Amino acid sequence: MSGKGQRLYPRAKSRIPGGTQLLSKRPEMFLPEHWPSYYSKAKGVDVWDLDENHYIDMSYNGMGACILGAADPDVDEAARKAIESGTMSTLNCPEEVELADLFCEIHPWAGMVRYARTGGEAMAVAVRIARAYTRRDRVAFCGYHGWHDWYLAANLAEERALDGHLLPGLEPLGVPRGLIGTALPFRYNHLEELKALASRYTGEIAAIVMEPVRSMEPESGFLEGVREIASHIGAVLIIDEISSGFRLNSGGAHLVYGLEPDMAVFAKAISNGYPMAAVIGRDNVMQAAQNTFISSTYWTDRIGPAAALATIRKHIKYDVSKHLIRIGQRVKQGWCEAAKHSKLTVEIGGIEPLAHFSFSGEESQTMKTIFIQLMLERGFLASTALYATYAHQDIHLQRYENAVSEVMSIMRQSLQQQSLSKILKGPVAHAGFKRLA
Ligand SMILES: Cc1ncc(COP(=O)(O)O)c(C=O)c1O
Repeated sequence: MSGKGQRLYPRAKSRIPGGTQLLSKRPEMFLPEHWPSYYSKAKGVDVWDLDENHYIDMSYNGMGACILGAADPDVDEAARKAIESGTMSTLNCPEEVELADLFCEIHPWAGMVRYARTGGEAMAVAVRIARAYTRRDRVAFCGYHGWHDWYLAANLAEERALDGHLLPGLEPLGVPRGLIGTALPFRYNHLEELKALASRYTGEIAAIVMEPVRSMEPESGFLEGVREIASHIGAVLIIDEISSGFRLNSGGAHLVYGLEPDMAVFAKAISNGYPMAAVIGRDNVMQAAQNTFISSTYWTDRIGPAAALATIRKHIKYDVSKHLIRIGQRVKQGWCEAAKHSKLTVEIGGIEPLAHFSFSGEESQTMKTIFIQLMLERGFLASTALYATYAHQDIHLQRYENAVSEVMSIMRQSLQQQSLSKILKGPVAHAGFKRLA
Protein backbone atom coordinates (compact mmCIF):
# COMPACT_ATOMS: atom_id res chain seq x y z
CA MET A 1 0.00 0.00 0.00
CA SER A 2 2.26 2.77 -1.14
CA GLY A 3 0.33 5.57 -2.78
CA LYS A 4 0.68 9.32 -3.12
CA GLY A 5 -0.51 10.02 0.41
CA GLN A 6 1.84 7.47 1.94
CA ARG A 7 4.70 9.11 0.04
CA LEU A 8 3.64 12.67 0.84
CA TYR A 9 3.58 12.16 4.59
CA PRO A 10 7.35 11.62 5.07
CA ARG A 11 7.87 14.88 3.13
CA ALA A 12 5.35 16.59 5.42
CA LYS A 13 7.34 15.44 8.43
CA SER A 14 10.46 17.11 7.07
CA ARG A 15 8.58 20.43 6.63
CA ILE A 16 5.96 20.31 9.40
CA PRO A 17 7.15 19.33 12.87
CA GLY A 18 5.03 16.41 13.97
CA GLY A 19 3.69 15.99 10.43
CA THR A 20 0.15 17.25 11.08
CA GLN A 21 -1.53 20.03 13.04
CA LEU A 22 -3.61 17.67 15.17
CA LEU A 23 -2.15 14.75 17.10
CA SER A 24 -5.15 12.54 16.41
CA LYS A 25 -4.81 12.99 12.64
CA ARG A 26 -1.30 11.59 12.60
CA PRO A 27 -1.14 8.53 10.33
CA GLU A 28 0.89 6.84 13.08
CA MET A 29 -2.22 6.92 15.26
CA PHE A 30 -3.92 4.64 12.74
CA LEU A 31 -1.66 2.61 10.50
CA PRO A 32 2.00 3.69 10.39
CA GLU A 33 3.43 3.76 6.86
CA HIS A 34 0.20 2.60 5.22
CA TRP A 35 -2.55 5.05 6.21
CA PRO A 36 -3.67 7.09 3.16
CA SER A 37 -3.05 10.24 5.26
CA TYR A 38 -4.48 12.81 2.80
CA TYR A 39 -7.81 13.23 1.09
CA SER A 40 -8.62 14.68 -2.30
CA LYS A 41 -12.36 14.85 -1.61
CA ALA A 42 -14.81 14.20 1.22
CA LYS A 43 -18.59 14.18 0.84
CA GLY A 44 -21.02 12.80 3.41
CA VAL A 45 -19.20 9.71 4.73
CA ASP A 46 -17.39 9.09 1.43
CA VAL A 47 -13.70 9.94 1.29
CA TRP A 48 -11.26 9.71 -1.62
CA ASP A 49 -7.51 9.64 -1.09
CA LEU A 50 -4.88 11.17 -3.39
CA ASP A 51 -4.99 8.09 -5.64
CA GLU A 52 -8.80 8.30 -5.89
CA ASN A 53 -9.25 5.21 -3.74
CA HIS A 54 -12.66 5.41 -2.12
CA TYR A 55 -13.39 4.76 1.56
CA ILE A 56 -16.41 4.98 3.83
CA ASP A 57 -15.53 6.91 6.96
CA MET A 58 -16.48 4.69 9.88
CA SER A 59 -14.05 6.45 12.21
CA TYR A 60 -13.84 10.05 13.37
CA ASN A 61 -15.49 12.02 10.55
CA GLY A 62 -13.33 15.09 10.81
CA MET A 63 -12.58 14.33 14.46
CA GLY A 64 -16.20 14.92 15.35
CA ALA A 65 -16.58 18.16 13.38
CA CYS A 66 -18.64 16.78 10.47
CA ILE A 67 -21.77 16.00 12.45
CA LEU A 68 -23.97 16.29 9.34
CA GLY A 69 -21.40 14.57 7.13
CA ALA A 70 -18.61 16.21 5.13
CA ALA A 71 -19.52 19.04 2.76
CA ASP A 72 -23.15 19.27 3.85
CA PRO A 73 -25.05 21.07 1.06
CA ASP A 74 -27.04 23.39 3.37
CA VAL A 75 -24.05 24.43 5.44
CA ASP A 76 -21.90 24.87 2.34
CA GLU A 77 -24.62 27.02 0.79
CA ALA A 78 -24.59 29.27 3.87
CA ALA A 79 -20.78 29.48 3.68
CA ARG A 80 -20.96 30.30 -0.04
CA LYS A 81 -23.41 33.12 0.67
CA ALA A 82 -21.05 34.44 3.33
CA ILE A 83 -18.20 34.36 0.82
CA GLU A 84 -20.23 36.17 -1.81
CA SER A 85 -21.20 38.92 0.60
CA GLY A 86 -17.64 39.34 1.93
CA THR A 87 -16.12 37.24 4.68
CA MET A 88 -14.26 40.13 6.29
CA SER A 89 -14.78 43.85 6.62
CA THR A 90 -13.98 46.79 8.88
CA LEU A 91 -17.55 46.36 10.14
CA ASN A 92 -18.86 43.31 11.98
CA CYS A 93 -21.10 40.59 10.56
CA PRO A 94 -24.65 40.59 11.98
CA GLU A 95 -24.72 36.76 12.01
CA GLU A 96 -22.74 36.79 15.26
CA VAL A 97 -25.61 38.51 17.06
CA GLU A 98 -28.16 36.14 15.53
CA LEU A 99 -26.05 33.17 16.61
CA ALA A 100 -25.69 34.55 20.15
CA ASP A 101 -29.48 34.82 20.38
CA LEU A 102 -29.83 31.24 19.15
CA PHE A 103 -27.32 29.90 21.70
CA CYS A 104 -29.11 31.70 24.54
CA GLU A 105 -32.50 30.50 23.32
CA ILE A 106 -31.26 26.89 23.39
CA HIS A 107 -29.53 27.41 26.76
CA PRO A 108 -31.86 29.65 28.78
CA TRP A 109 -29.46 29.80 31.75
CA ALA A 110 -26.94 31.70 29.56
CA GLY A 111 -27.26 35.38 28.68
CA MET A 112 -24.07 36.26 26.79
CA VAL A 113 -21.72 34.77 24.21
CA ARG A 114 -18.14 35.28 23.00
CA TYR A 115 -16.59 33.59 19.97
CA ALA A 116 -13.32 32.02 18.94
CA ARG A 117 -12.56 29.64 16.10
CA THR A 118 -11.14 26.49 17.72
CA GLY A 119 -11.99 24.45 20.80
CA GLY A 120 -8.72 24.83 22.65
CA GLU A 121 -8.61 28.60 22.27
CA ALA A 122 -12.27 28.91 23.29
CA MET A 123 -11.40 26.97 26.46
CA ALA A 124 -8.52 29.38 27.08
CA VAL A 125 -10.97 32.27 26.67
CA ALA A 126 -13.39 30.70 29.16
CA VAL A 127 -10.66 30.07 31.73
CA ARG A 128 -9.36 33.64 31.31
CA ILE A 129 -12.85 35.04 31.89
CA ALA A 130 -13.32 32.83 34.96
CA ARG A 131 -9.99 33.94 36.39
CA ALA A 132 -10.85 37.58 35.69
CA TYR A 133 -14.27 37.17 37.30
CA THR A 134 -13.03 35.45 40.46
CA ARG A 135 -9.58 37.13 40.62
CA ARG A 136 -8.21 33.68 41.42
CA ASP A 137 -5.58 31.56 39.63
CA ARG A 138 -6.19 27.86 40.18
CA VAL A 139 -8.35 25.64 37.99
CA ALA A 140 -9.66 22.19 38.96
CA PHE A 141 -10.39 20.05 35.92
CA CYS A 142 -11.03 16.57 34.63
CA GLY A 143 -10.67 15.34 31.04
CA TYR A 144 -8.99 16.78 27.95
CA HIS A 145 -9.36 20.47 27.07
CA GLY A 146 -6.79 21.35 24.40
CA TRP A 147 -3.17 22.45 24.11
CA HIS A 148 -3.01 25.79 25.95
CA ASP A 149 -0.71 26.69 28.83
CA TRP A 150 -3.47 26.88 31.45
CA TYR A 151 -4.19 23.17 30.85
CA LEU A 152 -0.75 21.69 30.12
CA ALA A 153 0.42 23.31 33.37
CA ALA A 154 -1.11 20.23 35.01
CA ASN A 155 1.77 18.23 33.57
CA LEU A 156 4.47 20.28 35.26
CA ALA A 157 5.85 18.59 38.33
CA GLU A 158 8.04 19.77 41.17
CA GLU A 159 10.70 17.46 39.77
CA ARG A 160 11.38 17.91 36.07
CA ALA A 161 11.81 14.15 35.65
CA LEU A 162 8.16 13.69 36.59
CA ASP A 163 6.89 16.21 34.04
CA GLY A 164 4.27 14.68 31.77
CA HIS A 165 3.28 11.81 34.01
CA LEU A 166 -0.13 13.05 34.99
CA LEU A 167 -1.62 13.24 31.50
CA PRO A 168 0.38 10.63 29.60
CA GLY A 169 1.87 11.86 26.35
CA LEU A 170 1.12 15.56 26.86
CA GLU A 171 4.53 17.20 27.14
CA PRO A 172 4.57 20.52 29.00
CA LEU A 173 7.96 21.73 27.71
CA GLY A 174 7.61 25.44 26.93
CA VAL A 175 4.89 25.93 29.53
CA PRO A 176 6.28 28.32 32.20
CA ARG A 177 7.26 26.45 35.35
CA GLY A 178 5.70 29.31 37.29
CA LEU A 179 2.34 27.76 36.43
CA ILE A 180 3.02 24.68 38.60
CA GLY A 181 0.02 24.01 40.80
CA THR A 182 -2.43 26.14 38.81
CA ALA A 183 -4.16 23.22 37.01
CA LEU A 184 -5.43 20.59 39.43
CA PRO A 185 -6.81 17.32 38.05
CA PHE A 186 -9.60 15.19 39.47
CA ARG A 187 -11.25 12.11 37.96
CA TYR A 188 -14.73 11.97 36.48
CA ASN A 189 -17.23 10.47 38.94
CA HIS A 190 -14.76 10.96 41.81
CA LEU A 191 -16.47 13.72 43.74
CA GLU A 192 -14.26 13.08 46.74
CA GLU A 193 -11.21 14.15 44.72
CA LEU A 194 -12.83 17.47 43.81
CA LYS A 195 -13.92 17.93 47.43
CA ALA A 196 -10.33 17.39 48.56
CA LEU A 197 -9.06 20.02 46.09
CA ALA A 198 -11.77 22.44 47.20
CA SER A 199 -10.82 22.14 50.85
CA ARG A 200 -7.07 22.17 50.23
CA TYR A 201 -7.27 25.34 48.10
CA THR A 202 -10.01 27.25 49.89
CA GLY A 203 -10.71 30.57 48.21
CA GLU A 204 -8.17 29.94 45.44
CA ILE A 205 -10.05 28.00 42.75
CA ALA A 206 -11.26 30.17 39.88
CA ALA A 207 -12.96 27.46 37.87
CA ILE A 208 -14.03 23.84 37.76
CA VAL A 209 -13.69 22.56 34.20
CA MET A 210 -15.09 19.30 32.85
CA GLU A 211 -17.06 17.59 30.12
CA PRO A 212 -20.63 16.75 31.11
CA VAL A 213 -20.27 13.16 29.87
CA ARG A 214 -17.80 11.19 27.77
CA SER A 215 -16.61 7.64 28.13
CA MET A 216 -18.93 6.90 31.01
CA GLU A 217 -22.26 8.09 32.30
CA PRO A 218 -22.28 10.35 35.36
CA GLU A 219 -22.98 8.41 38.55
CA SER A 220 -26.01 9.47 40.48
CA GLY A 221 -25.28 12.67 42.41
CA PHE A 222 -21.94 13.41 40.68
CA LEU A 223 -23.00 16.34 38.49
CA GLU A 224 -25.21 17.74 41.26
CA GLY A 225 -22.26 17.42 43.64
CA VAL A 226 -19.92 19.28 41.27
CA ARG A 227 -22.49 22.07 40.88
CA GLU A 228 -22.87 22.32 44.62
CA ILE A 229 -19.13 22.51 45.25
CA ALA A 230 -18.65 25.16 42.56
CA SER A 231 -21.40 27.32 44.06
CA HIS A 232 -20.14 26.74 47.60
CA ILE A 233 -16.53 27.75 46.87
CA GLY A 234 -17.46 30.54 44.44
CA ALA A 235 -15.74 28.90 41.44
CA VAL A 236 -17.05 29.25 37.90
CA LEU A 237 -18.36 25.94 36.58
CA ILE A 238 -17.19 25.63 32.96
CA ILE A 239 -18.68 22.76 30.98
CA ASP A 240 -16.65 21.74 27.93
CA GLU A 241 -19.14 20.77 25.22
CA ILE A 242 -16.57 20.76 22.41
CA SER A 243 -17.04 17.04 21.78
CA SER A 244 -20.23 16.24 23.68
CA GLY A 245 -22.34 19.16 22.42
CA PHE A 246 -25.06 18.47 19.83
CA ARG A 247 -24.64 14.68 20.08
CA LEU A 248 -27.44 13.74 22.48
CA ASN A 249 -29.70 16.72 21.80
CA SER A 250 -29.72 19.99 19.83
CA GLY A 251 -27.54 21.80 22.35
CA GLY A 252 -25.16 21.10 25.20
CA ALA A 253 -25.33 17.62 26.74
CA HIS A 254 -25.54 19.33 30.15
CA LEU A 255 -29.17 20.14 29.30
CA VAL A 256 -29.94 16.42 29.10
CA TYR A 257 -28.60 15.95 32.63
CA GLY A 258 -30.33 19.02 34.07
CA LEU A 259 -26.98 20.62 34.91
CA GLU A 260 -26.80 24.42 34.92
CA PRO A 261 -23.21 25.57 34.54
CA ASP A 262 -21.88 29.14 34.65
CA MET A 263 -20.21 28.82 31.26
CA ALA A 264 -20.23 26.26 28.44
CA VAL A 265 -17.87 25.99 25.50
CA PHE A 266 -18.74 24.72 22.02
CA ALA A 267 -16.67 24.06 18.88
CA LYS A 268 -16.30 21.16 16.40
CA ALA A 269 -19.86 20.03 15.60
CA ILE A 270 -21.52 23.47 15.78
CA SER A 271 -20.35 24.46 12.30
CA ASN A 272 -19.85 21.17 10.46
CA GLY A 273 -16.28 21.60 9.27
CA TYR A 274 -15.96 25.40 9.25
CA PRO A 275 -13.88 26.89 12.08
CA MET A 276 -16.14 28.23 14.83
CA ALA A 277 -16.25 28.13 18.61
CA ALA A 278 -18.49 29.74 21.20
CA VAL A 279 -18.21 30.48 24.91
CA ILE A 280 -21.60 31.02 26.46
CA GLY A 281 -22.29 32.06 30.04
CA ARG A 282 -24.24 33.87 32.67
CA ASP A 283 -24.23 37.65 32.21
CA ASN A 284 -22.38 38.49 35.43
CA VAL A 285 -19.53 36.05 34.66
CA MET A 286 -19.30 36.95 30.96
CA GLN A 287 -19.12 40.67 31.73
CA ALA A 288 -15.69 39.99 33.24
CA ALA A 289 -14.48 39.60 29.63
CA GLN A 290 -14.53 43.39 29.59
CA ASN A 291 -11.97 43.60 32.40
CA THR A 292 -9.32 41.63 30.52
CA PHE A 293 -8.04 41.68 26.94
CA ILE A 294 -9.54 38.96 24.73
CA SER A 295 -9.53 39.90 21.05
CA SER A 296 -8.57 38.47 17.65
CA THR A 297 -9.09 39.51 14.00
CA TYR A 298 -10.29 36.21 12.58
CA TRP A 299 -12.76 35.71 15.40
CA THR A 300 -14.84 38.19 13.38
CA ASP A 301 -15.04 36.32 10.06
CA ARG A 302 -18.43 35.71 8.57
CA ILE A 303 -18.18 32.07 7.51
CA GLY A 304 -17.97 30.67 11.05
CA PRO A 305 -21.22 32.18 12.38
CA ALA A 306 -23.02 31.61 9.06
CA ALA A 307 -22.01 27.95 9.04
CA ALA A 308 -22.94 27.57 12.71
CA LEU A 309 -26.40 29.06 12.17
CA ALA A 310 -27.02 26.71 9.23
CA THR A 311 -25.68 23.67 11.10
CA ILE A 312 -27.64 24.27 14.30
CA ARG A 313 -30.88 25.05 12.46
CA LYS A 314 -30.57 21.88 10.38
CA HIS A 315 -29.70 19.93 13.53
CA ILE A 316 -32.91 21.11 15.18
CA LYS A 317 -35.07 20.71 12.06
CA TYR A 318 -34.12 17.07 11.45
CA ASP A 319 -33.62 16.05 15.08
CA VAL A 320 -30.11 14.97 14.11
CA SER A 321 -29.13 13.68 17.55
CA LYS A 322 -31.87 11.04 17.38
CA HIS A 323 -30.23 9.68 14.22
CA LEU A 324 -26.75 9.81 15.80
CA ILE A 325 -27.95 7.85 18.83
CA ARG A 326 -29.55 5.20 16.63
CA ILE A 327 -26.41 4.83 14.51
CA GLY A 328 -24.25 4.58 17.63
CA GLN A 329 -26.52 1.98 19.21
CA ARG A 330 -26.42 -0.17 16.09
CA VAL A 331 -22.66 0.11 15.74
CA LYS A 332 -22.11 -0.87 19.36
CA GLN A 333 -24.36 -3.86 18.88
CA GLY A 334 -22.44 -4.80 15.72
CA TRP A 335 -19.11 -4.73 17.56
CA CYS A 336 -20.58 -6.77 20.37
CA GLU A 337 -22.01 -9.45 18.06
CA ALA A 338 -18.93 -9.68 15.84
CA ALA A 339 -16.66 -10.01 18.88
CA LYS A 340 -18.89 -12.62 20.46
CA HIS A 341 -19.07 -14.58 17.23
CA SER A 342 -15.30 -14.64 16.83
CA LYS A 343 -14.69 -15.11 20.57
CA LEU A 344 -12.69 -11.92 20.96
CA THR A 345 -13.03 -9.85 24.11
CA VAL A 346 -13.82 -6.20 23.56
CA GLU A 347 -14.84 -3.42 25.90
CA ILE A 348 -17.42 -1.05 24.50
CA GLY A 349 -18.06 2.46 25.81
CA GLY A 350 -18.85 6.09 25.10
CA ILE A 351 -22.14 7.84 24.57
CA GLU A 352 -23.86 6.37 21.51
CA PRO A 353 -22.89 9.12 19.03
CA LEU A 354 -19.24 8.88 20.17
CA ALA A 355 -19.01 5.12 20.53
CA HIS A 356 -15.74 3.29 20.99
CA PHE A 357 -14.37 -0.13 21.82
CA SER A 358 -11.04 -1.64 22.76
CA PHE A 359 -9.55 -5.08 22.42
CA SER A 360 -8.50 -6.48 25.74
CA GLY A 361 -5.25 -8.18 26.58
CA GLU A 362 -1.57 -7.48 26.20
CA GLU A 363 -1.70 -7.32 22.43
CA SER A 364 -4.54 -4.81 22.27
CA GLN A 365 -2.57 -2.16 20.38
CA THR A 366 -1.38 -4.73 17.81
CA MET A 367 -4.95 -5.96 17.46
CA LYS A 368 -6.19 -2.42 16.94
CA THR A 369 -3.58 -1.81 14.22
CA ILE A 370 -4.49 -5.05 12.45
CA PHE A 371 -8.17 -4.16 12.66
CA ILE A 372 -7.46 -0.77 11.03
CA GLN A 373 -5.32 -2.40 8.33
CA LEU A 374 -7.84 -5.09 7.43
CA MET A 375 -10.73 -2.61 7.44
CA LEU A 376 -8.77 -0.24 5.20
CA GLU A 377 -8.20 -3.09 2.76
CA ARG A 378 -12.00 -3.49 2.68
CA GLY A 379 -12.62 0.18 1.88
CA PHE A 380 -13.22 1.65 5.34
CA LEU A 381 -11.49 4.40 7.26
CA ALA A 382 -11.94 2.67 10.58
CA SER A 383 -10.46 2.62 14.01
CA THR A 384 -11.80 1.54 17.37
CA ALA A 385 -14.36 4.35 17.48
CA LEU A 386 -17.21 5.68 15.42
CA TYR A 387 -18.27 9.32 15.62
CA ALA A 388 -21.71 9.10 14.05
CA THR A 389 -22.94 11.61 11.48
CA TYR A 390 -26.27 12.43 9.92
CA ALA A 391 -24.84 11.08 6.65
CA HIS A 392 -24.39 7.54 8.01
CA GLN A 393 -27.13 5.33 6.63
CA ASP A 394 -28.12 1.71 7.22
CA ILE A 395 -26.46 0.66 3.99
CA HIS A 396 -23.08 1.90 5.33
CA LEU A 397 -23.68 0.07 8.58
CA GLN A 398 -24.66 -3.13 6.84
CA ARG A 399 -21.44 -3.17 4.81
CA TYR A 400 -19.42 -2.15 7.84
CA GLU A 401 -20.90 -4.89 10.04
CA ASN A 402 -20.11 -7.54 7.42
CA ALA A 403 -16.53 -6.30 7.17
CA VAL A 404 -16.10 -6.13 10.96
CA SER A 405 -17.34 -9.73 11.32
CA GLU A 406 -14.99 -10.96 8.63
CA VAL A 407 -12.01 -9.02 10.05
CA MET A 408 -12.60 -10.17 13.62
CA SER A 409 -12.81 -13.80 12.46
CA ILE A 410 -9.47 -13.45 10.68
CA MET A 411 -7.99 -11.91 13.80
CA ARG A 412 -9.31 -14.74 15.93
CA GLN A 413 -7.76 -17.34 13.63
CA SER A 414 -4.36 -15.67 13.68
CA LEU A 415 -4.53 -15.30 17.43
CA GLN A 416 -5.12 -19.05 17.70
CA GLN A 417 -2.24 -19.73 15.36
CA GLN A 418 -0.10 -17.18 17.21
CA SER A 419 0.53 -15.45 13.92
CA LEU A 420 -0.98 -12.01 14.65
CA SER A 421 2.17 -10.06 13.87
CA LYS A 422 2.53 -11.85 10.52
CA ILE A 423 -0.60 -10.08 9.23
CA LEU A 424 0.74 -6.66 10.13
CA LYS A 425 2.32 -4.88 7.15
CA GLY A 426 3.95 -2.09 9.17
CA PRO A 427 4.62 -0.92 12.72
CA VAL A 428 2.02 -0.97 15.49
CA ALA A 429 -0.05 2.23 15.83
CA HIS A 430 0.96 4.79 18.44
CA ALA A 431 -1.20 4.85 21.51
CA GLY A 432 -0.89 8.68 21.73
CA PHE A 433 -2.16 10.68 24.62
CA LYS A 434 -4.88 9.31 26.81
CA ARG A 435 -7.79 11.30 28.13
CA LEU A 436 -8.13 11.13 31.87
CA ALA A 437 -11.40 9.41 32.66
C1 LIG B 1 -13.47 17.92 25.19
C2 LIG B 1 -12.52 18.64 24.30
N1 LIG B 1 -12.05 19.84 24.67
C3 LIG B 1 -11.20 20.53 23.88
C4 LIG B 1 -10.77 20.03 22.67
C5 LIG B 1 -9.84 20.83 21.82
O1 LIG B 1 -10.52 21.35 20.71
P1 LIG B 1 -9.71 21.76 19.39
O2 LIG B 1 -9.05 20.54 18.86
O3 LIG B 1 -10.74 22.34 18.46
O4 LIG B 1 -8.71 22.82 19.82
C6 LIG B 1 -11.24 18.78 22.25
C7 LIG B 1 -10.76 18.17 21.00
O5 LIG B 1 -10.72 16.97 20.82
C8 LIG B 1 -12.13 18.06 23.08
O6 LIG B 1 -12.60 16.84 22.73
